[in-house]
Amino acid sequence: MPVALITGGSAGLGLALATALAERGWSLIIDARGTPELRSAAATLGPETIALIGDVADPAHRRELAETAAGFGALDLLVNNASSLGPSPLPALANYPLADLTAIHQVNVVAPLGLIQLTLPLLRAADGTIMNISSDAAVEPYPGWGGYGSTKAALDQITAVLAAELGPAHPGLRVYGFDPGDLRTAMHQRAFPGEDISDRPEPATVVPALLRLLDDRPPNGRYRAADLLAHSQSAS
Ligand SMILES: NC(=O)c1ccc[n+]([C@@H]2O[C@H](COP(=O)([O-])OP(=O)(O)OC[C@H]3O[C@@H](n4cnc5c(N)ncnc54)[C@H](OP(=O)(O)O)[C@@H]3O)[C@@H](O)[C@H]2O)c1
Repeated sequence: MPVALITGGSAGLGLALATALAERGWSLIIDARGTPELRSAAATLGPETIALIGDVADPAHRRELAETAAGFGALDLLVNNASSLGPSPLPALANYPLADLTAIHQVNVVAPLGLIQLTLPLLRAADGTIMNISSDAAVEPYPGWGGYGSTKAALDQITAVLAAELGPAHPGLRVYGFDPGDLRTAMHQRAFPGEDISDRPEPATVVPALLRLLDDRPPNGRYRAADLLAHSQSAS
């Protein structure tokens, strides 16, 4: 039975992907900071899910996640999904509080690489997949998105350099960045406080794009959900 570690599995995209993998019979390790939501997600996902409460920015919690994965002997999929938007409303860079900038880089950049470092032997053992969840804010200069966008740009570069470093020696391993596009989630609502975001798609709508990467295992790189979904439609 394949094993996935998905950070931020209690809501939004992480929960939508976890639900799809549970339906496929995967064993799951998920985390989140909020206890009731995480317990509720774990109960919905079923007995093959291990839910660990914690903050990915905490090195001790990351070790706990990796040690739990080590209990399976190998790891087929690591999804660095948990992420921080930073302050809401989004501050312009000219006034961006530097303590907040440091904090979101810890969650969105340092924590994902930390988890990759800890789980790499397990991922290698499975010819597994590293999936770093990115954003269009990594590449588009939207006013207000400089703090969060800079974390996702850094994560994209980590994805690309890791692929270059690991690819030649470990051709079975996959390293992907995945840009899901706008989704109707709590994070997105915090980015647009007081606005109606009901026109944004549900997170489950992009899960087929993630599953496509897992099933087809295309070359390492950064993939957009919109492109993968459009390609699926034109092929069918
Ligand atoms: N929504 C969008 O429009 C959009 C667009 C582009 C990219 N993305 C990316 O997609 C990913 C998922 O976002 P989402 O919109 O699904 O977010 P979401 O609905 O707010 O869910 C975030 C999940 O991560 C957990 N989490 C947040 N910070 C954490 C931390 N420090 N440690 C552990 N768990 C943490 C949350 O639980 P707790 O709060 O209880 O910890 C929750 O389970 C993120 O990487 C985001 O940057 C989203």
